[in-house]
Amino acid sequence: MEEQNKEAANTPPFHPSFARVLNQKQQIKEKLSGIRHKIGIYSAKGGVGKTTVAVNLAYTLRDLGFKVGLLDADVDTPNVAMFVGMNGIQEVIYPLRPVEMHGVKVLSTAMFIDESTKPIIWRGPMVAKMITEFFDNTAWGDLDYLILDLPPGTSDAPLSIMQLLDMDGFILVTTPQHIAAVNAIRSGRMVKRMGISILGVVENMSEGVPKGAKEVAQELGCDVLGTIAHDNKFSALSDSGVIPITVDNALKVQFTNIAERIAGQGI
Ligand SMILES: Nc1ncnc2c1ncn2[C@@H]1O[C@H](COP(=O)(O)OP(=O)(O)OP(=O)(O)O)[C@@H](O)[C@H]1O
Ligand SMILES: [Mg+2]
Repeated sequence: MEEQNKEAANTPPFHPSFARVLNQKQQIKEKLSGIRHKIGIYSAKGGVGKTTVAVNLAYTLRDLGFKVGLLDADVDTPNVAMFVGMNGIQEVIYPLRPVEMHGVKVLSTAMFIDESTKPIIWRGPMVAKMITEFFDNTAWGDLDYLILDLPPGTSDAPLSIMQLLDMDGFILVTTPQHIAAVNAIRSGRMVKRMGISILGVVENMSEGVPKGAKEVAQELGCDVLGTIAHDNKFSALSDSGVIPITVDNALKVQFTNIAERIAGQGI
């Protein structure tokens, strides 16, 4: 009996790997205590406009007077750097320092890899390690918002982010298409399962009246935050490193409606 009690006292309440994640999460929470809100932009489906929404939302929040950071959490296909016109490679020095691009602090693996087209071929543990470095070892300073551009899928990278970071919540991105909505619903279910809030859904490449976003909102019981029209200016400008909302007022108005809804909710 005495032996049994001794053993129970030495046994951690959780599996050791779970306890490790909890410790790491607490450590990261303390390190990022200068960031008021952390919002992920997410869908399991590729190409629906996650990066477009993340970048333009970050700059719209800047224009509303907030201090904003933008983290390219798509560590093996980092597109944020190109979207914000970032060039050049930096030496890796810890703590990592985001680069201030037109008033938004940006961090991306593209800052540390020498060729934009060189494939970053990493297995899951390496991706998870890079994401942990980004959270654990970056000097973000004080921010009102950190916007995270997530990769597609429901595996390693999104899972690491959901496990490690104390998120305010996720904004789901869909297009009007049914298949995009189905995948956004799948993503939303993962977010809920991880005990994190869904802040709402944005319909990108929209024809006006929300269709895919309505499907997502009905299924997950969340709000439609707004729609962004299909407009070829997005791809033309982003490809040349110009942030669309900074040069086109019609595009800016659409993002301002969404940003004001987020800020208005106290998120
Ligand atoms: N509203 C829009 N109208 C027209 N083109 C758009 C719109 N939104 C995004 N695009 C274009 O669609 C392509 C995919 O967008 P983006 O890279 O933002 O998607 P993503 O979801 O981040 O993709 P991935 O899953 O590969 O990370 C890009 O070329 C982008 O410029
Ligand atoms: Mg992307």
